[in-house]
Amino acid sequence: MYCKILVPVDGSHRSAMAAEHAAKLAVLCKAHLTVLHVVPPLPPYVNRYEDRLGEVYRKVQEQMEENGAEILNRTREELAKYNVDLETKAIWGNPADEICREAREGRYDPIVMGSRGLGEIRGYLMGSVSNRVVRHASCPVLIVR
Ligand SMILES: Nc1ncnc2c1ncn2[C@@H]1O[C@H](COP(=O)(O)OP(=O)(O)OP(=O)(O)O)[C@@H](O)[C@H]1O
Ligand SMILES: [Mg+2]
Repeated sequence: MYCKILVPVDGSHRSAMAAEHAAKLAVLCKAHLTVLHVVPPLPPYVNRYEDRLGEVYRKVQEQMEENGAEILNRTREELAKYNVDLETKAIWGNPADEICREAREGRYDPIVMGSRGLGEIRGYLMGSVSNRVVRHASCPVLIVR
């Protein structure tokens, strides 16, 4: 039924659960699975001081990129047992917008993601990324709780 499944991961327990679910779905459907991590930009007040912060700014960006690569590698290892056709991808930008863009341009169907992620604020069923993706995605979205 599904040919291309997109699973965005942020390193949280819930996104790992979503990745497991996506892998099982990929096995059933003999689908291609893409694990995506979006490296968010630094907040505008940091961006504004890019010139003055120079080295520190670059270090933080590098660290965030490395962190993203680690999350993707870890997910790849965790999903190895499913033996699915799997690809990992890291991109820069606003997570929700990039997830929707990737799904649209890559013609993915469906997006499988966690209800919440690394965010600390309690009491909400969904985080800001899953909320925005559900509202703006051009394909079905499966939310894993
Ligand atoms: N940077 C990211 N790259 C890829 N996927 C992400 C990223 N951030 C979140 N996600 C996906 O979105 C799901 C929900 O995370 P979300 O960020 O919406 O919740 P939260 O972290 O609890 O809340 P908030 O970020 O609003 O404080 C995650 O389980 C993951 O699947
Ligand atoms: Mg989050």
